[in-house]
This record gives sequence, structure tokens and C-alpha cells, in this order.
Amino acid sequence: MRKSAWQWMHTELESLKERAQFRYLVDSEPQGQGWLLRDGRRMLNLASNDYLGLQQRSGIADAWMGAAASRLIVGNNPVYRRFEEEFARFKGTESCLLFSSGYMANVGVIPSLMGRHDVVFSDRLNHASIVDGIVLSRAEHVRYRHRDLDHLETLLRKADTGSKKLIVTDSVFSMDGSIAPLRELVELKDRYGAMLMVDEAHSGGLYGEQGQGLVHELGLTERVEIQMGTFSKAYGGYGAYIAGDEVLKQYLVNKARSFIYTTALPPAVIESVRLNWLQARKEEWRRKELSRKAVWFREALRQRGFDTGESESHIVPLLLGSNERTVRFSEKLQQAGIAAVAIRPPTVPEGTARIRFTLMATHRDEDLQWAVEQIDRAGRELA
Ligand SMILES: Cc1ncc(COP(=O)(O)O)c(C=O)c1O
Repeated sequence: MRKSAWQWMHTELESLKERAQFRYLVDSEPQGQGWLLRDGRRMLNLASNDYLGLQQRSGIADAWMGAAASRLIVGNNPVYRRFEEEFARFKGTESCLLFSSGYMANVGVIPSLMGRHDVVFSDRLNHASIVDGIVLSRAEHVRYRHRDLDHLETLLRKADTGSKKLIVTDSVFSMDGSIAPLRELVELKDRYGAMLMVDEAHSGGLYGEQGQGLVHELGLTERVEIQMGTFSKAYGGYGAYIAGDEVLKQYLVNKARSFIYTTALPPAVIESVRLNWLQARKEEWRRKELSRKAVWFREALRQRGFDTGESESHIVPLLLGSNERTVRFSEKLQQAGIAAVAIRPPTVPEGTARIRFTLMATHRDEDLQWAVEQIDRAGRELA
């Protein structure tokens, strides 16, 4: 990453150091009976929230021990650091910082980077957690039409040249299955001196030769300042990460309120996420199968006259428009034995209610074939 892009961050971190307000993470490992190992030294723990000592009761899964406070207090179990280092290597970034969930990452990161005098450019169909992050930041919130680069460029041109600018986008859009034009966004952000944040919630684990994500697959790792992803989708777990430069990590440790002021994920969650991640990495057949099934399913619906919008992924919307029709459609599918959710405003824009189908690598071809027939029948019955 161009170091000049982060000059303002270096300056702010230096200023925190001068005021003795700089925070950093120190490994802390519980040892029982109120003692812990902090940075390799045994210390009496007078900073825990495990008031009744229940976490350290032997017999309860040992892996659960260790949080019981923010990571900046005494909760920084080495499990986090080790996983962050491993995951950063996998992503090809200098560093990585874990958050308790994708929602927490987005509402923490955006306000820590952007403030009252800054501008955030956000795709109109970005996830709600991004929208909430922008609102919390108090920056000017500029929404551009979905994937519309001309519109975004017009808005970038109009923005005050003196303000800090951030473009933020989902990589695979959660309700549409469409894919952000990341290459073009990188060009635009460079041209207008903006930063780019990409939310890989629905592409992590699925794109890239080992599932590193779409940014990695397109060879853009060095050019995207902030990558966010969650472990709650393809990795079948819980928790989230921000991947990027080391200075970004240090900055977030000091500034992201949803990192600082909350208890960290239990180490057991990290351990289980790690196992799923290692498996996803090596089992390429899962990515291939998902991709093959998604192409087949989308095409099968399109051939039967359904509108699947701009989907290019394993998320396939069936656009129906009216809320009533969508609810009836989803009821019919449920009666037929298919669980698929009716998505209505405010989750999606007014007049674009839909059924959202999401595919899995482990779906059987014959089950998907059967599902398409049921969807077709429901469509004809409601015509
Ligand atoms: C694009 C996107 N970002 C962030 C999130 C939030 O992730 P999490 O469920 O880990 O809080 C979601 C989840 O629905 C999402 O779809």
C-alpha cells in the first residue's frame, strides 16, 4: 500500500503516543485462580470481568477461557494474535484485526476513519451495517447508483478537494448477488485520492484459489486500503476481520469503538472458525461445485422467465416487486417444502421485493432440479 495514503493516520498515532494515549495489544493467557500470563510474565489478574471466576472452572471447555474483558484490558489471548497473523498471510496483507461480528466491524471501522468533515461514497445497495457505520461517522453520506461508475465519478468530482474521501462497497451484494466492479473502483479511487473499503462478507471463502476473496482473485490486494470480511457466511462460524496495512490495524486498535469497548470473541469460536477456514482453503471442490450450481440454478430460472436481476453469484434473487406477491410466493414455496425468505423494504429498495435464494456447495443436483420445478409451479399459480 502506498504509505503516503496513511500519512494522516501515522500523524494521529504519533499524537496519541505523545499524549500517552496510545493503546496496543499484549498477549494475556489465563492461568486459573486469578492469575494470568501477560507478555510471558505471571501476574495476578486484577482486571477481569469474570467476577465469579466461572470461566476458569476446570472441566468447562478450556478453550472458552480467556476473554472476560476487552482485548485491550486482559483479554488478549494469544489465540487471537496467532490467528490474525496466519489470516493476514493468507490474505496477502500486512495485518489483520478480528472483530466480534461483521456488523461490529463496519460500525466500528467507518466512524474511526471518517468524521464530520469527510465524505463517504457508498453503493446504494450496500449492506445495512455499512449504512449504519456511515451514519455513526457523521461524515457526509453520498450514495451512488448501484455499480454506476459514471454516477460515482460525477459525485467524486463534485466533492470538496480538501476532505478525506472513502468509497465503500460490498464485493458480492447480499440481496442481489451482483458483483462490484472492483478494478474500475480502484482506478477511480486513485484518480480522486480516495480510499477504498471492500466488504467481502459474501465472497470470502468463495473467490480466489484458496478462498481469499474477490480482491485477491483480481490481484488488487495492494490497492485496496481496507478489506472487511466475516466468518459467519462461507466459513460457517462467527466473527469478522479487517485486513490491511499494519498502521491501519494500530489505528483501529486505538480508535474503533466496537473493538475497544466490547468483550472479544471467545477463543473457542476462533479455534472453530480456524478449522473451517483451513478446510475451506484446501477443499477447492466446494468453490467449484458452488459456482457450477449457481450458474445452473440462475440459468434454469431465467429460462423459465423469472427475473433474477443482475445476479452473477450463488445469491440469486427472484424479483417480484410487490410485497404481497412476494409473501404469497414464499408461503407457496414453504408449503412445497422449500425454505427461502421473502425480502422486503427497508432491506431492499421500495418496489423491489424478492425471494432470495442462496446456494450451497453441498446441495444435490436433483434437489435443485426439484426446487426449480416447485418455483416454476408457484410462479404459474400466482400469475
Ligand atoms: C455485506 C454484509 N456485510 C456485513 C454483514 C454483517 O456480518 P455479521 O453477520 O458477521 O455481523 C453482512 C451479514 O449479513 C453482510 O451481508
